[in-house]
Amino acid sequence: MKLELLDNKVFFENEGSRKEIHPFWLRERVSGENFVDNATQQRLFDPTELKENIEIKNLNLTDQFLEILFNDGVETRLKIQSILSEFSNNNDVKSIDKIKWDASLKDLNNFEFSNNIFEDKKMYEALISFYRFGFVIFKNVPIKNNFIVNFANSIGSIRRTNFGEFFNVKSKPNPNDLAYTSLPLAPHTDNPYRNPVPCIQILHCIQNQVSGGFSTLVDGYTVTEKLKEDFPEYYKILTEVKVRFQFIDQSVVLEDWAEMIKLDENKNLRQVRFSPRLDFVPLMDKEKLKLYYLARNKISELYNSEKYRIEFKLMPGDLLMMDNYRLLHGRTSYDANEGERFLQGCYIDYDSTEGRLKHLKRKFNI
Ligand SMILES: [Fe+2]
Repeated sequence: MKLELLDNKVFFENEGSRKEIHPFWLRERVSGENFVDNATQQRLFDPTELKENIEIKNLNLTDQFLEILFNDGVETRLKIQSILSEFSNNNDVKSIDKIKWDASLKDLNNFEFSNNIFEDKKMYEALISFYRFGFVIFKNVPIKNNFIVNFANSIGSIRRTNFGEFFNVKSKPNPNDLAYTSLPLAPHTDNPYRNPVPCIQILHCIQNQVSGGFSTLVDGYTVTEKLKEDFPEYYKILTEVKVRFQFIDQSVVLEDWAEMIKLDENKNLRQVRFSPRLDFVPLMDKEKLKLYYLARNKISELYNSEKYRIEFKLMPGDLLMMDNYRLLHGRTSYDANEGERFLQGCYIDYDSTEGRLKHLKRKFNI
């Protein structure tokens, strides 16, 4: 990638293709204290108020800078590197390669907690690991009640829901969700009926005296890729049919329509939703429904297969952070008479982890 100049025009050259850069695009990016606030990097001018037909009057390219004089008299020096990086569309998070995993995953991605971890390079490493595997576990996080709120708000901002700012996961009488019982929970994603679905779930173990109650995780990325490979028709229908997910209790009705496997504009996985107690497929042709049910059974079989599931016991002080758009989670049953099992949970969204990751990257010049 490089810049080239010709007849007061700037061209961007990349792998043999050469395109002119619109002069206004460059004019919007003028730097200097008269145009950009140094601390916030926000513009001090409103580009929509520039009515003039912006053209370039004079140009110069040095080793590091593109120097431009515009026809409205404004002069600027733009860093060539900054222009090129905008063209490369380099997204710090999207460029982290996901690592597919299954039951053979042995290293559980543990990071030791410390009070200053949120500003430490170790948090950067933990977040990179989170984006690679879809989860990360912090060890020895203080088990003070509600510390999870501090934790979430130190990465970014907690995402409040109708379950509250955070929720206590322990068996209780008359629960409004199976999570609050000692029953086993098959792999599922949380809150598929919300719009938007919370991106990341955090679970903090405060007490775990029971012999069962193992936490389970499944990589939805691994499973959906496997489905695509072995059963392309099933994969296709699950990426196309929008299903109604629903949650009802005494004070709220929540609904959202979405595909079980949602793809992005490049046909890559964007989000899995799976919660077979809460999904309602629309009334379609009998043949189409037949295929849909076969597909749902197959993906359920894969999600529930031991081949893909890891199982581990969260101990007091362990804090699990997992990607609710990629992973499924669950737990094995336990006997509430054996003692206390008490986890606290909450949600954060991707802007929290992305914001912190980019901040730490900038801070440590990585
Ligand atoms: Fe859950």
